[in-house]
Amino acid sequence: MHEIVHAVPQDWAASAHVDIDDYHSLYRRSVEDPAGFWAEQAQRLDWIKPFTVVKNTSFAPGAVSIRWFEDGTLNVAANCLDRHLETRGDKVAILWEGDDPSESRAITYRELHAEVCRFANVLKKLGVEKGDRVTIYLPMIPEAAMAMLACARIGAIHSVVFGGFSPDSLAGRIGDCHSTLVITADEGLRGGKKVPLKHNTDLALAKTIGDEKVLVIRRTGAEVAMHAGRDYWYHEVSAEVSADCPPAEMNAEDPLFILYTSGSTGRPKGVLHTTAGYLLHAAMTHEIVFDLKEDDIFWCTADVGWVTGHTYIVYGPLANGATSVMFEGVPNYPSNSRFWQVVDKHKVTIFHTAPTAIRALMQSGDEPVKVASRASLRLLGSVGEPINPEAWEWYYRVVGDGRCPIVDTWWQTETGGVLITPFPGATPLKPGSASWPFFGVQPGIVDSEGRLLEGACEGNLVLLDSWPGQMRTVYGDHERFEQTYFSAYKNMYFTGDGCRRDADGYYWITGRVDDVINVSGHRMGTAEVESALVAHQNVSEAAVVGYPHDIKGQGIYAYVTLMAGVEPSDALRKELVGWVRKEIGPIASPDLVQFAPGLPKTRSGKIMRRILRKIAEDEFSALGDISTLADPAVVEDLIANRQNRR
Ligand code: PRX
Repeated sequence: MHEIVHAVPQDWAASAHVDIDDYHSLYRRSVEDPAGFWAEQAQRLDWIKPFTVVKNTSFAPGAVSIRWFEDGTLNVAANCLDRHLETRGDKVAILWEGDDPSESRAITYRELHAEVCRFANVLKKLGVEKGDRVTIYLPMIPEAAMAMLACARIGAIHSVVFGGFSPDSLAGRIGDCHSTLVITADEGLRGGKKVPLKHNTDLALAKTIGDEKVLVIRRTGAEVAMHAGRDYWYHEVSAEVSADCPPAEMNAEDPLFILYTSGSTGRPKGVLHTTAGYLLHAAMTHEIVFDLKEDDIFWCTADVGWVTGHTYIVYGPLANGATSVMFEGVPNYPSNSRFWQVVDKHKVTIFHTAPTAIRALMQSGDEPVKVASRASLRLLGSVGEPINPEAWEWYYRVVGDGRCPIVDTWWQTETGGVLITPFPGATPLKPGSASWPFFGVQPGIVDSEGRLLEGACEGNLVLLDSWPGQMRTVYGDHERFEQTYFSAYKNMYFTGDGCRRDADGYYWITGRVDDVINVSGHRMGTAEVESALVAHQNVSEAAVVGYPHDIKGQGIYAYVTLMAGVEPSDALRKELVGWVRKEIGPIASPDLVQFAPGLPKTRSGKIMRRILRKIAEDEFSALGDISTLADPAVVEDLIANRQNRR
């Protein structure tokens, strides 16, 4: 098949921050002299006390330790706000677009600075101190960014929990890091529907140790229960504090935030990011990957509950003094034209979204796109999952009118910011490929024995050395950090992704190779969905796998064995889907549920997921060897009753 390559447009090569020559020389320098390279790049930040040590990192077994700029001090909020006041005080920092198209707000750097200082004083008044953990469970309103920056200002560690998570999921995350304060809103608003955030918080706090306080932001004005001595309205407390709050002096390696993410096994892990390295990586990638210029209007459609929102709505753009659009709503409300109408309304120049949104919008054709001019757009971004070439081409041709390069950015919660990406002024684009390593990033591809492969090859993606934005540990469990990321291959960070490198050195991410599934760009651990299912009284056993889904990328396929005497029925199937929604949140709802009298197990009792995946993919002619199964007959039943018939 002839590969499509889109050449770098001439004007891009001439005007972008990085052209092809810059790329090669900077990349070489970044890996040959990391200390020199990063010491220079770190001048992007304002330091209180300059660092003298740049890099002190080790991936060695049993001694994994990652420290960058370890003797420097700085404050993240001061870097995102105070330092812009003189030159950009009246520039819009956050351009908020409400769920309802009639609602929007423009907040300048000066206003944001004042509000964050006030918010920080509210936190102090409620007893929050440096090092304390604060859980943020908010909708996409400016107060979410303010709350994050207020924590950073006083040195508290935030843990943002996506507003779509259930009370149980919220309780687990509050408990794991023992947050002393939960910041929430009366309700959220998405696609015209209300989300009972305060009510969910009340339910969550019934399951925690119970010494937390709650700060409530008024969003919809709904009446909510307030518990005296525990719950406080933000607008009441903030009226009593000043807008003057000096930033705390933080060490480069002090924690900035925890963000929970799913893995192959067990409960979600608290990914810990620290101060200087994370912010530097966020700011630098935001500027270079998106080729940021002073007048750009940058819109990343993610939710701040995910890492993309942390890095490319809040920290990267604000550290760079950019205008960042924050959108409360969804792509199809009030209509499928919403994204493009918002682009026109706010004259968005850089637009960054997820493949799942592109595929969903593509289904309703070109018309809803064409009703908007999109003339302001100059660059498009994609993140969160592999983008199939058809969706890439539609994004390029229809949304970008063939004018705008697309940056398909590969990274993870753990990596802090983008690691593999095209450079819009340097990289000829191959649809579907995340392309080239960012500066300082040394990808490797290993075979099943852990041998590094050369040239064009396919295998598992590892990273051979540290970069400043790398996670430092799993909160409270360094052993789990080493076990999860550094035990598969000695002296290497294992990403969990499969990857191909072509003859031109382009990287093509092929998807997760572990028991993590990527549903609409959201990471789900199959083990989490399984444990939710078996918590239902009628379920004796469950196995969950991913299967290809036209819009979501992957769908959730659950095999369920019922308790003896319980009859399978459509009603029960629906009940189980609703049960998982309630236990974890709507993003974990199984798409397909198959009742299975037995699961394929080895004689030692291990479930053979390979077989379950194949049947879920409707690819059962290639099941491979099933003779090692304890009872090969179960496979026939599974095939006969499969739910995904193409
Ligand atoms: O499998 C990769 C996929 O998303 C995983 C990371 O998920 P999360 O931590 O939630 O972060 C998502 C936002 C960075 C990766 O292990 N992934 C992310 N971006 C891409 C991708 N897969 C292919 N192409 C991408 N551009």
